[in-house]
Amino acid sequence: VENLQLNENVQIPILGFGTYQLRGDECRQAVGTALEVGYRHIDTADRYQNHSAIANAIRESGVARQDIFLTTKIWWDRQHYDQVMSDANRFLEELQTDYIDLLLIHWPNRKIPLTETVKAFTELKDRGVIKAIGVSNFNIHHLTDALNMGLQITNNQIEFHPSLNQKEMIRFANEHRIVLTAYSPLAQGQDLNIPLLLELAEKYHRSVSQVILNWIMSKNIVAIPRSSSRQYIEDNFQSLRWQLGVEDIEKIDQIGGTNRINDPGFGDFKY
Ligand SMILES: NC(=O)c1ccc[n+]([C@@H]2O[C@H](COP(=O)([O-])OP(=O)(O)OC[C@H]3O[C@@H](n4cnc5c(N)ncnc54)[C@H](OP(=O)(O)O)[C@@H]3O)[C@@H](O)[C@H]2O)c1
Repeated sequence: VENLQLNENVQIPILGFGTYQLRGDECRQAVGTALEVGYRHIDTADRYQNHSAIANAIRESGVARQDIFLTTKIWWDRQHYDQVMSDANRFLEELQTDYIDLLLIHWPNRKIPLTETVKAFTELKDRGVIKAIGVSNFNIHHLTDALNMGLQITNNQIEFHPSLNQKEMIRFANEHRIVLTAYSPLAQGQDLNIPLLLELAEKYHRSVSQVILNWIMSKNIVAIPRSSSRQYIEDNFQSLRWQLGVEDIEKIDQIGGTNRINDPGFGDFKY
């Protein structure tokens, strides 16, 4: 799996495995299958309540810890200094590891002073508890505030798929050397029936899901599809090692749209 550079010491595999809504045995099995198939990047969050299941899957897989890239996230109302420090320690225990590759602020929260969050993340990074710092669901204003505050943002994990293709954010992230990660890359299944994508799947003898993931990765954006079935986990891994033609990439770009699926009440996209 190809990597993208996050900071001078850390690279992130361009394809990862999402674990939202997977818990317990289902999660352990899915992550085990993903590791067996060849995924080396697992995306989780405190909120998903599956750290322990993931730790068990990793242990049972026999894959060395240093060969796996682990991302987790601080929940949006836990961004005070003491909360971040104690949560990060708890994550290490739950994940049965002594470091986290990438720790994200799950959602922006302007009610908590950013200085506190920045201090905690910076200390964790200096101590080697986390290898890279990132955020999620930040718009350009949130990113600008945090960058001005000195947060060393290497990654912004955002909802991204053909029907929500975030052109402005791509431009901003490129300018500031922030790697983007596409979450809900399949729009939780909603984009799998778009006629153009069905056409392209036929043209390339690929699944629609592979076409979408290949399109995302063609932009040097990380994709983290989730599935609980071996068939889909394998299918999605086949999005690697082939390329859509430039003219077809541009056609998919034209789908555009504002089909945002993840928009909780506390989201702050209008800032
Ligand atoms: N930072 C955030 O706020 C945030 C928010 C949402 C998600 N995420 C992350 O992004 C990951 C992915 O997003 P997501 O879970 O929302 O949705 P997604 O990956 O876009 O879609 C998952 C759905 O697509 C189906 N699917 C997967 N592969 C398929 C294939 N090859 N063919 C047909 N259907 C397929 C799955 O079916 P089955 O379940 O039947 O296998 C599942 O219902 C999450 O798991 C999580 O790690 C982050």
